[in-house]
Formats: sequence, C-alpha cells, structure tokens
Amino acid sequence: MEKRETWSWRGAFIFAVVGSAVGLGNAWRFPYVVAQNGGGAFLIPYLFAILTAGIPLMMLEFGIGHKFRGAPPVAYKRAAKGTEMVGWWGNLSAFVIITYYGVVMAWALNYVIHSLSLAWGDDPGSFFYSFLQLSEGPGVLGGINPAVLIAFIIGWILVIGIISSGVKGLGKVVIVTAILPVLILIILTLRGITLEGALDGLNYYLQPNFAALKNVDVWMAAYSQVFFSLSLGMAVLIAYASYLPKKAEIANNVFIASLADAGIAFLAGLAIFSTLGYMAAQQGLPVAEVAGTGGIGLAFAVYPQAINLLPASPFFGILFFLLLVTLAIDSQFSLVEGCVSSIMDKWNLKRGAALAIISAPAFVIGLLFVTKAGLFWLDIVDKFVNSYGLVAVGLVECIAVGWIIGTDKIREHVNALSEVNVGKWFDFCIKYLTPLVLIVILVRSIIEDIKVPYEGHPQWALNIGWAMVILLPVLAFIFSKIKSNEKTEAAEEE
Ligand code: PHE
Repeated sequence: MEKRETWSWRGAFIFAVVGSAVGLGNAWRFPYVVAQNGGGAFLIPYLFAILTAGIPLMMLEFGIGHKFRGAPPVAYKRAAKGTEMVGWWGNLSAFVIITYYGVVMAWALNYVIHSLSLAWGDDPGSFFYSFLQLSEGPGVLGGINPAVLIAFIIGWILVIGIISSGVKGLGKVVIVTAILPVLILIILTLRGITLEGALDGLNYYLQPNFAALKNVDVWMAAYSQVFFSLSLGMAVLIAYASYLPKKAEIANNVFIASLADAGIAFLAGLAIFSTLGYMAAQQGLPVAEVAGTGGIGLAFAVYPQAINLLPASPFFGILFFLLLVTLAIDSQFSLVEGCVSSIMDKWNLKRGAALAIISAPAFVIGLLFVTKAGLFWLDIVDKFVNSYGLVAVGLVECIAVGWIIGTDKIREHVNALSEVNVGKWFDFCIKYLTPLVLIVILVRSIIEDIKVPYEGHPQWALNIGWAMVILLPVLAFIFSKIKSNEKTEAAEEE
C-alpha cells in the first residue's frame, strides 16, 4: 500500500502553518483592528482570545488531522459518522477564498512593477481605480482587465507548480515564503521607526484606552481577528497536520505558531504606523486623518502616498508590494492544498488530478474578480465568507468535537505526543466558551448586516453573498453523501 506523504524535515510543518497564518490579515487588518479597538489595551482581549479560542481550536484541528490521518472530510468521517460535512464546509469556504485571494496577489504583482516608476504619481487613490479600470458598479462587468489577468495567470502557475511538487516540495518552498516577508517587515520597521513623526504614528496605533475593554465589540473584534489570522476553520491546518509523521510534537507547535503569528502582526503594525506617522508629519495632518481604514485602501492608496515621501522610494515600493505577494502566496497555496488533499483522500485521486479539479474551476470563477467590476465583487464575497464562513465552520467544529466526537479523545491524543500536558481547560473551551463566543459573533453580524446593507452595495448583489452563505453548508451536506473511495489506512492505524 502506498504510504501517506509526510513532511520532509522537522521544521517543515511549523513553517507551513506559520506561512499560512501570516498573511494579508497580519499586515493590513491587525494594525487597524488594534488602533480602532483600544490601541495597546486591545492586546489584552487579543491575548485572551488566542488563549481561549485560537490555541484550543488549533489544537483541535491538529489533533483531528493527525489522529485520523486525513484531510478534513475523511478525518471527520473517521472520527464520527455524520460529521463529514464539517470538513466539506471548511473546504468550500476555502475554495471561495481561493477564487479571489489570487486576484489581490495579482494587483500586488502589478504594483511591484509600478513601484519602479512610482506610476501612481501624486494621487495613488485615483491611480488605483484607473489601474483597475473600475466600472460603475457590480452589475457592469465591462470585460477582463488585461494587466490583472496576466499577473493572475502568473500567480496560478506558481501555485500550481508548488502544489504539484507535493508535501515534500511544499516543505521546501515554505522556508522562503515564511521567512522572506518577516525579513521585509523588519527592514520596513527599521526604516519606519527612524523617520520623523514615527512616534505619533505609534501612539495612534498603541496608546492604550482601557475604557475600550468594557465594550463587547472590542472583545468580538479580538476573537474574529484571531480566527482569521490563524487560518482556522478553513481545512488548512487539518490537512497540514495529517502529513505529520506518527510521532510528532503537537502542543508546542500550537504555541509556537499562534505566538509567531501574533508577533508578526504586531511587527507589521510598527512598520505601517510609524511610516504613516511620518506621512502625517510631512503633510501637517493628524495621523487619524491620513490613516484610512486599512485593507485594500491602505495597501494601494494610502501606503503608496507614504512611499512617495521616502528617500529611495522605488526601493521601498518594491519591498512593500513584494511583502504583500510573499504574505499572500503561502496563504493561497495552503488553501489550495487543503482542498486538493481533501478530494485526494476522499476519492483516492492522484495529486495532479485533484489539483486540476480544484484549480480549473477556481481560476475560471476567479475571472469574475479580474473583470472591471472585480473590486466590487471581491469586497462583497470577502465580506460574506469572512463574516460567516470561518466563524460558522469554527462553531460546527466545536459542536462536532465537543459534543459528538469527544474532546477527551483529542486531548489524550495530543497529550500522548506532546511535551506539555494539555489540561481540562481545553474541553471547557471547546465545549462551552468558544462556541458561545462564536454564536454571539454570528448573531451580531447577522443583525448588523440585515440592518445596514454592507458598504452601500446594491441589495441584489448582497443577496448573492447571502445565497453563497446558505449554499455552502447545503453543498457540504451533499458532498458528504457522495460515495467515497478512500484508502483504508487500517494497516497504518495503531
Ligand atoms: N491567515 C491568513 C491571514 O492572516 C488568511 C487565511 C485564512 C489564510 C484562512 C488561509 C486560510 O491573512
């Protein structure tokens, strides 16, 4: 019998996990979530969320993947009949992200080239819209944008090349894709904090406002950020853990990965806000006024303005957009690998066939975001999958493991392998605390999104987002009913 692929060296797994976790969320989401939710004081709920939800859930996902030696659908199925759909739900949410994450990477690739000549000029905001050839609204697709298409294709070629090299190849690539963004961030931070006005930026980022801790929204923001940032609920971590050798360390890897992710996010905040502090000082404006709200706007409109003001600006432009590309690529291929290994395991497919089945439709659907209405659709789809995909899957994972499979099974498995002993707190978090928080987050988002249409997009377009949210679990259920053709790993089971 063919043996399951395994990571080729000890560190490969942790590099791959950190590479997946450290993504755009660390650079353009975390710093802003901090600034808007109590500054330095936010680090308290953030750490709390890591300890009570991030670490237990990551442990759960590693445990499930490793104990049952399979990507999510098969692993859950082996754990308890009837929970297979939990795995598919994660895969389907991941698939949706795959379709557009590569488009953001394509923009960043274009901007690496634009940095050479600082093509965005004095008004990066308008340049970004004309670069996208943005149409009037989501209803006007206006054809494909050729510059984005070319970069989109290059991105897919890279991802397909990496995934087809298997788990062994992946384990090598992640050394580069996990380390390079950290090196770039260190350079950008050193540059940032030595600029005039940097301190004002850092004050804006970190000045603690302890009164914010009384606000439930601040706590919810911490939990949402932890979920997104640690790549939870997206099938990735389960698949990666399924490639660990039988004797592997788990608990320490969980601590290392979650703390590394938090540390790198914190560092990104230093790099971004010190530079924005400098820009504010140069323009004689308050930091709050130049900072914007993070996300796409920060990367493609606000930060380029700051780059304009730096000495050797093209160099820092290239570094910054290369940072985005290297942050995004290992998150993107981790999502692809999660889906690929899931269908390999379920239907006993060869890697190449599984990769074709995932990447061809993902590429074609992704073309929607390469049209001139791409930005609108990206914004809508991203919003719905982030608000409902991840959180919903995390919740059903807690229910499946907490109430059907049994937390003690997972805890004992982890303990048998780990240097540290995981206590009963794990059971408490998975059974009660984490699901409770996730339900509150879900209900609050539903109420909010029904009351106020997101970003003023037309209702019909938002309805497509809602339809997607409902369709994913239905499809997941259907997939779980399709007959499988999995390899029995009986010979390998202890
Ligand atoms: N964790 C990534 C980030 O912080 C995003 C991501 C989510 C990647 C889920 C893979 C799976 O940007």
